Amino acid sequence: MIDRIRQQVREAYGRAVGRPRGELVTPALILDLDKVRRNIETMAELRKGWRAALRPHFKAHKSPELARLQVGAGTGGVCAATVWEAIVLTRSGMDDVLIANEVVGREKIRALAAGARGHRLTLAVDDPRNATEVADALRAAGGRLDVLIDVDIGMGRGGVRSAGAAVALAGHVARLPGLRLRGVQGYEGHCMREADRAKRAAKVAGALDRLGAAAESLVRAGFACDVVSAGGTGTCEITGNDARVTEVQAGSYVLMDRFHGVLAPRFVPALTVLGTVITHQGATLVLDCGRKSVGIDFGPPSLADYPFYEPRYLAEEHAIFDVDDRCRLSLGDTAELIPGYAPSTINLYDAYHVVEEGRVVDIWPILPRGPGHVGILSD
Ligand SMILES: Cc1ncc(COP(=O)(O)O)c(C=O)c1O
Repeated sequence: MIDRIRQQVREAYGRAVGRPRGELVTPALILDLDKVRRNIETMAELRKGWRAALRPHFKAHKSPELARLQVGAGTGGVCAATVWEAIVLTRSGMDDVLIANEVVGREKIRALAAGARGHRLTLAVDDPRNATEVADALRAAGGRLDVLIDVDIGMGRGGVRSAGAAVALAGHVARLPGLRLRGVQGYEGHCMREADRAKRAAKVAGALDRLGAAAESLVRAGFACDVVSAGGTGTCEITGNDARVTEVQAGSYVLMDRFHGVLAPRFVPALTVLGTVITHQGATLVLDCGRKSVGIDFGPPSLADYPFYEPRYLAEEHAIFDVDDRCRLSLGDTAELIPGYAPSTINLYDAYHVVEEGRVVDIWPILPRGPGHVGILSD
């Protein structure tokens, strides 16, 4: 199925190959490969001072081709948010995949157990019942899984709520066949909204104290804790330098967007959405890329060549800007938008138009697109 999707996408979008980046059918998702490479190099430089390894998060781009570039640049394994992403990754040749999230539900657990056969998968768990269900499915499928105890370190999303609960869950996991406890993970996502670097660093330190305390408690209770996994693009410079952390789960650094641009300005925007001006009436400029083509979770997009304009509104099919005489765009012109948030932008598309030196050189599928489960298992 994965190969079939790849082929369908190439058939559907392949005639764009060779065209200049400004002359595509819009809205079109553009991936600037030169900038992707720059971001990968920048991350490689940054990591030189870290004890921690980088485990790039696939959910940010959902492109096996991009994941391969990241792994080729010397990272360890990769990270996924869903079992379907993990299956895409293992079937694309990636063999050390962490699902940094809970997997709950009979069919998803069955898919996980089948996917674990012959691959090195690691799963985050925060509940003994879930761990038991996973172990039962592994026994039936004949697979094995590594496990991290997911610890809430202040975000209030997934994760056990205390070091004591982490130790209790570790004891439960240790008694289950097919599961091997490797350590802990925590995600300091609540720190990503702090634009002030010093305040962000203080918040991250507090969050990592909680993760470190859980790791220490595990070791004191006699459990293995070789892995301490945390971090994202907005905190990687802080979390990567923390001696307690063994791997950093940053993903967005490779594409970037406006949200991450504030937090990690050393990386450059490699992802844009090409739109066409469909109305220019007085001071109102309207492009054909609204919310159905640009994710706005953490803020609106900006015009790459006119960063001083903020959109007035994003309707389903319209991005509406109030412009002045600095704007040289007119009806039918194309312009590129930098999304507010890349992960929810790419999920709206079938494929990237991969661009080098201003021209489309390839079409890369978004896999799995959307919720991602349809058909992934049928081959
Ligand atoms: C568990 C987990 N790890 C890491 C990340 C970091 O991702 P990014 O680098 O894209 O901000 C996220 C983002 O949502 C996440 O949920």
